Amino acid sequence: MPRGGKRSFVCRECGYQSPGWLGHCPQCEQWGTIEEDLTPVAAARPTGGKGNDRHGAGVAVAAPVPVSLSEVTFDTGDRIDTGLGEFNRVLGGGLVLGSVVLVGGEPGVGKSTLLLQALLSMEGRGVSTLLVSGEESASQVKLRSVRLGGGSSGLRLVTETQTEAVVAALEQLQPTACVVDSVQTLWSSAIGSTPGSVAQIREVTAQLLHTAKTNGIALILVGHVTKDGELAGPRVLEHMVDAVLSFEGDRAQPFRILRAVKNRFGSTNEVGVFQMAEQGLIEVPDPASVFLEEGDMRSGSVVVPVLEGSRCLLAEVQALVAPTNFAMPQRVARGVDRNRLSMITAVLSRRARLPLSNCDIFVNIAGGLILEDPAADLAVALAIASAFRDGDAGRGMAAFGEISLTGKVRYALQSDKRIQEAARRGFERILVPGRNAEEAAKAGVTPSGMKIEAVIDIADAVRRNSG
Ligand code: TYD
Ligand code: MG
Repeated sequence: MPRGGKRSFVCRECGYQSPGWLGHCPQCEQWGTIEEDLTPVAAARPTGGKGNDRHGAGVAVAAPVPVSLSEVTFDTGDRIDTGLGEFNRVLGGGLVLGSVVLVGGEPGVGKSTLLLQALLSMEGRGVSTLLVSGEESASQVKLRSVRLGGGSSGLRLVTETQTEAVVAALEQLQPTACVVDSVQTLWSSAIGSTPGSVAQIREVTAQLLHTAKTNGIALILVGHVTKDGELAGPRVLEHMVDAVLSFEGDRAQPFRILRAVKNRFGSTNEVGVFQMAEQGLIEVPDPASVFLEEGDMRSGSVVVPVLEGSRCLLAEVQALVAPTNFAMPQRVARGVDRNRLSMITAVLSRRARLPLSNCDIFVNIAGGLILEDPAADLAVALAIASAFRDGDAGRGMAAFGEISLTGKVRYALQSDKRIQEAARRGFERILVPGRNAEEAAKAGVTPSGMKIEAVIDIADAVRRNSG
């Protein structure tokens, strides 16, 4: 292989490059992720989306002619409707011809189902489609299509894992939309390493990207994620593609969220919500309260309106506090960051004088939702305080606000949206940060039948909640 005699090494997780092998990646702090970079020199050249000859290394090239921005035309009518409104929404209005979208998610979350549904719908509307399946056999895909009600669809299927063959198929069949499931199963004969390695993933993606751009194909790549939720393979993959979508959800729960992590053709501020059912994924166009548990709320549970993109969802924080049997009390968090939980617990102990140091604390977000909105802090704190006292305070109450180390409850963004959503679901009380309460009063947005209570700090909030 023409490598100029130099070996180089690259981290499988973050793409960090090093001249020698290392057991520990200094960039992403992972162990055992550095491997030899077997990309041939010509193939390792940066491949943008310009459709130039990637293998023309060393050939004299003419200077490109610039165009004036005012002369550039751009047609938004070129988007293809995927047939799933929630999917279109996250994409920014549909698939763009000549673009490459990466859809990541844990195994079993429903990536193949979502994309097969989209392909079947597009095929049914006369869009020419192709499914490249490197993971499932033709009969498995057929079985799934039957389940999704598209058993007799004309959708074309190729079960192939060699990239050069896939590229040849794309060039010959010229589909308008194509799904490759998954990018990790593909391999290229240009590279010596095994499928799924950094060099392979990068080469496979570069070849597919080039083909999609030059042939105007809307290409969707499926990518697996690691246990930590990162896309397996180097970050470079995220830089190469036009959009990165993440499909999330607890497999044991019916609801799934599709989120744009990166989008060159739309906002990353949108999420799509789906429900996994017998006949595949069903869209949930009004997801505000689907994550709440049915029936009466009990002690240790507080609802928080969280922002997910431009939408507001109601999330139910559930907590259980019990005397510990261990020297080190347990802190178990599902759906909230564990470090965040430790911080909130410490603030509750110090600033609200709750003796939690001898208690195990378990926090769970109902419905498998993962909260990243810092305004969920107050609800987490109140759920723990309520569980600690085992009273039934919290019933019919919602709260939001970020908690600082001093115990102060800090201003949250878009309080009007949060308050409206809680009111719509019938909450009668909502605890909000002081400045948000002032803002609501000024704007006159208090919905009828709802009491907005300003809280100064965590001790004040806990006191109000126990009343
Ligand atoms: P799948 O799309 O294969 O997940 P991924 O490609 O992300 O690994 O589907 C995952 C699960 O969805 C699978 O365990 C079965 C379930 N499922 C349904 O509940 N209903 C359906 O109609 C289909 C097709 C799958
Ligand atoms: Mg799959």
